[in-house]
Amino acid sequence: MNADSHDPEAVRAGSTPPGDMSEAEASAELASLAGAIAFHDARYHGDDAPVISDADYDALVARNRALESAFPGLVRTDSPSLRVGTPVASGFGKVCHAKPMLSLNNGFTDEDIADFAARIRRFLSLSDEDELALTAEPKIDGLSLSLRYEGGRLVQAATRGDGAEGEDVTANIRVAGAAPLELAGTPPRVLEVRGELYMDRADFLALNEAQDAADSKIFANPRNAAAGSLRQKDPAVTASRRLRFFAYSLGEASAPLAATHMESLAALGAMGFSINPLSRRCTDVAGLLDTYASIGAARADLGYDIDGVVYKVDRHDYQERLGQVARAPRWALAHKFPAEQAETTLNDIDIQVGRTGALTPVARLAPVTVGGVVVSNATLHNEDEIRRKDIRIGDRVVIQRAGDVIPQVVRVITEQRPADSTEFSFPETCPQCDAPAIRPEGEAVRRCTNSLECPAQRLEWLKHFVSRDAFDIEGLGARQIDQFVSLGWVERPADIFRLAAKRDELATLDGYGETSIRNLLAAIEARRDIAFERFIFALGIRQVGQATARLLALHYDRPEAMLAAVGPDADPEATTAELTAIDQVGDSMAADLIGFFANASNFAAVEDLLAQLSVIPPERPAENSPVSGKTIVFTGTLAGMSRAEAKARAEQLGAKVSGSVSAKTSYLVAGADAGSKARKAAELGVTVLSEDDWLAMIDG
Ligand code: IVH
Repeated sequence: MNADSHDPEAVRAGSTPPGDMSEAEASAELASLAGAIAFHDARYHGDDAPVISDADYDALVARNRALESAFPGLVRTDSPSLRVGTPVASGFGKVCHAKPMLSLNNGFTDEDIADFAARIRRFLSLSDEDELALTAEPKIDGLSLSLRYEGGRLVQAATRGDGAEGEDVTANIRVAGAAPLELAGTPPRVLEVRGELYMDRADFLALNEAQDAADSKIFANPRNAAAGSLRQKDPAVTASRRLRFFAYSLGEASAPLAATHMESLAALGAMGFSINPLSRRCTDVAGLLDTYASIGAARADLGYDIDGVVYKVDRHDYQERLGQVARAPRWALAHKFPAEQAETTLNDIDIQVGRTGALTPVARLAPVTVGGVVVSNATLHNEDEIRRKDIRIGDRVVIQRAGDVIPQVVRVITEQRPADSTEFSFPETCPQCDAPAIRPEGEAVRRCTNSLECPAQRLEWLKHFVSRDAFDIEGLGARQIDQFVSLGWVERPADIFRLAAKRDELATLDGYGETSIRNLLAAIEARRDIAFERFIFALGIRQVGQATARLLALHYDRPEAMLAAVGPDADPEATTAELTAIDQVGDSMAADLIGFFANASNFAAVEDLLAQLSVIPPERPAENSPVSGKTIVFTGTLAGMSRAEAKARAEQLGAKVSGSVSAKTSYLVAGADAGSKARKAAELGVTVLSEDDWLAMIDG
């Protein structure tokens, strides 16, 4: 190893066999490797100007991996092997998607698929006789792209990014030859076509051969090769790679192409797009499962990677009615192929302490490749899981990895159990702060009881706070939080908004020049205005995910109202009643919310934070609809739609839907056999609407 570990550019892979090294030596080398690899990643991805050869870079990564597997206890929180995904290259412009680019919910079992179809039938209030056609098509393992055509010409190509905003890759797509630059026929004036960019296996192998011969970067799998080929600063490089594209859905369109998905695909085909030839229209679950089986059987011979089958409701009007939940449409499901498995040795078990204090055992594995990715850690979930699977340190184990989920230990190969394998005793105190770790009766998870006084919980909490769906501050990610926390600059979220006072100290840190400090502080300033739902999600309250955060934001409208309701002065019983009246908020979630704010230090941290912010009330979906801002209660059986659809539509129109009638109720919509609620509404003088009155009101 180079002696000058402070200069990341000078670091080279060491050659001392790990077995001959002391812990201190290994730890020092891992530290400089982490710095060096991060430095070269930034040169390669960010600046597209690497300063070492790919072979030297690969040697650093391999050395890091070798040291980590010899010293699993020394794996750093900023270890390059724990980093996932490619950092966003700053060289591409940003594109705001006209409609969000959604992801898909996953199903794994036949039962999941039957449930999916049944859920849709219920939502749409279809009877057994009504036809529900669903399509099945391969789930291509590439990257999704949005291609915008105006007047039949390609005007913009963008990656998915975070779903709301992606990168502008128009210049590269123009030369990639994967999609038409001009559409055939008479397309609508504006047409945004979405689909998957991918690379054939044969092209991927040929590319890697050429890369190898030129001593250039080898890609782990076709998907990485496609992504890497697209994200090139120089379109000429993209042009030299063979990229392909399957169109599979529409974004914005000035006029509809067709009434169904299958017909839309056909129309896209006629305009010049490649459409996957294995797509089928099915009229029952058995048909979907047959198609899944036949696509699965054809998988190895397709010439490109797929990781499952996507089912979609065929009729666009149904898709429209079904809408979306959080980031995924109700009308589609990805039926994933079974996970890929591999065998390896479990070297050790570490305990990680999460944001909510959960102690999670993590298996440290001898690195092994599964489905094109090197895996060296796997989750063991909880202590019962270790006991149930009888997992011991030193065991040979089968692990599996499916898609982006965390690798798991499936089972122990007991026939190969070494005589010296040792049982793991699960700690009863927090390994980070020594506080008692309690496992409530009936729960699987043991938790550190020290709340945010526990440094590990606080650190994870802060990382969650800045994460993508929370405050999402550019230039302030997990790594910077680690650094600022260890320097004592940030203890709670509000401190982030006081970092401007550390400008001079920041300048003394490695990697912080004038520009990056200015950018960081500007990014922080920009986040002082924050949407209420992001704010709630960012608080990292147990069980409060994005969907619940949105419900709470819509319910309370502003933080003051929420704090008054859940704060230490509130009456827990009344608060529980109010919270559980919000549809989808149950007793246990209400208890977690109340519990969070009952903790004085949490409450103080939230108040401190609020003083730094200007919180934006949630956007009501339709401000000027006749029911926006109104509180609606549905009762009885509706004839034309399910309760779930009625509720979703009312919310889309800006109404609040409640489960019980009170003086605050604006309208009670009474279907057939309405009972006590109708009586209560009459008593309180609440306007009662029939289903037809209601439809007339919302349809204008
Ligand atoms: S439809 C709103 N169809 O899978 C529905 N997605 O896991 C949007 N994907 O981000 C997606 N093949 O990149 C759809 N035939 C297919 C697909 C497909 C691959 C990808 C797509 C999406 C991801 C979600």
